[in-house]
Amino acid sequence: QKARIGVTGLAVMGRNLARNLARHGHPVAVHNRTSARTKALVEEFGGEGTFLPAETPERFVESLERPRRLVVMVKAGGPTDAVIDEFAPLLEPGDMIVDGGNANFADTRRREADLRERGIHFVGTGISGGEEGALHGPSIMPGGSAESYEALGPLLEDISAKVDGTPCCVHVGPDGAGHFVKMVHNGIEYADMQLIAESYDLLRHAAGLAPAEIAEVFRTWNTGRLESYLIEITAEVLAHTDASTGRPFVDVVLDQAEQKGTGRWTVQTALDLGVPVGGIAEAVFARSVSGHAALREAARGLPGPSRTAVADSGFADAVEKALYASKIVAYAQGFHEIQAGSAEYGWNIDLGAMATIWRGGCIIRARFLDRIRAAYEADPETPTLLTDDHFAEAVGDAQDAWREVVATAARLGVPAPGFSTALAYYDSLRADRLPAALTQGQRDFFGAHTYRRTDRDGSFHTLWGGDRTEVGA
Ligand code: 6PG
Repeated sequence: QKARIGVTGLAVMGRNLARNLARHGHPVAVHNRTSARTKALVEEFGGEGTFLPAETPERFVESLERPRRLVVMVKAGGPTDAVIDEFAPLLEPGDMIVDGGNANFADTRRREADLRERGIHFVGTGISGGEEGALHGPSIMPGGSAESYEALGPLLEDISAKVDGTPCCVHVGPDGAGHFVKMVHNGIEYADMQLIAESYDLLRHAAGLAPAEIAEVFRTWNTGRLESYLIEITAEVLAHTDASTGRPFVDVVLDQAEQKGTGRWTVQTALDLGVPVGGIAEAVFARSVSGHAALREAARGLPGPSRTAVADSGFADAVEKALYASKIVAYAQGFHEIQAGSAEYGWNIDLGAMATIWRGGCIIRARFLDRIRAAYEADPETPTLLTDDHFAEAVGDAQDAWREVVATAARLGVPAPGFSTALAYYDSLRADRLPAALTQGQRDFFGAHTYRRTDRDGSFHTLWGGDRTEVGA
């Protein structure tokens, strides 16, 4: 018997993905650099389906039906290249290598081009949902050729999460499109998490609530428009008590957030594409600030406001509004980045389809994403989600509370970079005139960088050092 698909790299994500495939009735070849893991998988979970363990790359490749579908689940970067170098020579034209790691899309583009020359399809695939998602149904974002999707799509759709019967898997676009979209997914994930963290911090330090009480607030929010996986687990984490000290778990965890790189890439890429993603950037920077222990220690004694907590019973509702509005901004920015990346690389990404496959399985899954799907269905060319009828109304309703929350944060000295930047973005977009005109004047003054006028075409320069007449540039 041959395997329909193979998975190499059997750490927790690879192992769970292989089990998911087997549980869906797909005979799956399994391989790991050290074969103890392969053995352990088959011993522990062999009853879940048909596993074909292979000790060597050669045996692994031989055990696959053609065209071969080989899923690589190793650490992004060097290890991925090492595995490709090992397996590609064993493959034949028409075979497929699927990279399910969190690869940088630029690496995926390079690998795809290299392997295409050798007739091998390289399918950089975003997979979201963590360990549980990999096992029970992740959200899957495959890039690569349309031809490879014909052979892979049905399998991936089969093991993906489903929402209203629709698989959370779609062909995103050629070469690096899948990993690009996964990268932005993670950037949005960072922003979502940061906004939730700020909400918690405000409820704790501005409203004076205890973690267990805040957990209840999040539980309530999770029954409304904010319903999402991240809100749900936030309540769980906040309600948890540390066993060894009896204190709230959140109080015994070191307050330095780590990151593996996808959020940073989202921002770096946005800078290259010229897309403003302040919400995502502030989320990355907030993690960075938290990690600068020595800097924070040095600054700890700096003066702050004479704090008085707000006792207002409506404050939690105001925070809910600020959170919803800021979340809309973060998604609007993320989708803008996907739109720009798609245009830059000619991927032709269907934005509504991305919202559709993020409704289930992935870390940012949320009721809200169905609204985004609907927004793109109503107008696939919408320049920003913020002008969609539903979102414009929601932000319009929320804005007074949103401003109050940002003002309260500033007044009480509670850092709220995510809420603040989101509000500034909203106000920048809706502004009639921006002070960028002054910036242009300064640039022209010190560097003759020229400016354009509102009333005439062309570029102009004022003779600042002379008689200040204006000349055409
Ligand atoms: C997912 C997640 C996952 C990512 C973690 C950790 O979609 O399942 O995005 O791919 O590895 O979120 O990321 P950080 O370590 O950078 O927080």
